[in-house]
Amino acid sequence: MQPGLRQYTRDEVADSKTATETLFIIDNIVYDVHKFLDEHPGGHEVLINVAGKDASEEFEDVGHSMDARELMKGYVVGELVDADKVPISKKQYSWEDTAKTSETEASFVNSWKFPVLLGLALTLLYSYIFG
Ligand code: HEM
Repeated sequence: MQPGLRQYTRDEVADSKTATETLFIIDNIVYDVHKFLDEHPGGHEVLINVAGKDASEEFEDVGHSMDARELMKGYVVGELVDADKVPISKKQYSWEDTAKTSETEASFVNSWKFPVLLGLALTLLYSYIFG
């Protein structure tokens, strides 16, 4: 639970469809995009369609950019009560996991050990053939 955030139940979000609010849930966080409807590059209709619902999957399916993820922080109005939270999909961390793995692989090639071992192997090969 994050301090200072209003707590919503899923039912409250579902019942909230008023003229001054457009609430939906993404990863247990509640957003009000009422003021963002006309600015959303994906159009207001998609946002209205998910009003009152959990839009986590729809949001991820679009593959929103990091800019969009920064922007959405400005529309947070609260979070779900602990009883209504669901485990957040691991999908969003997979990019970091992959980055870590490839970093480890790349670091051997980039480190001083690689050229030194290559040089040693070539020296041995040379003396084996011509020695
Ligand atoms: C506060 C929440 C949201 C923010 C701040 C946001 C922001 C953005 C931004 C900045 C873009 C431009 C492309 C990019 O930078 O990724 C975009 C595109 C789009 N968004 Fe959102 N979005 C939000 C929620 C949603 C939701 C819930 C849906 C679906 C139900 C959605 C559907 C789309 C679609 C369909 C596009 C167009 C993609 C394209 O043209 O390729 N967005 N959004």
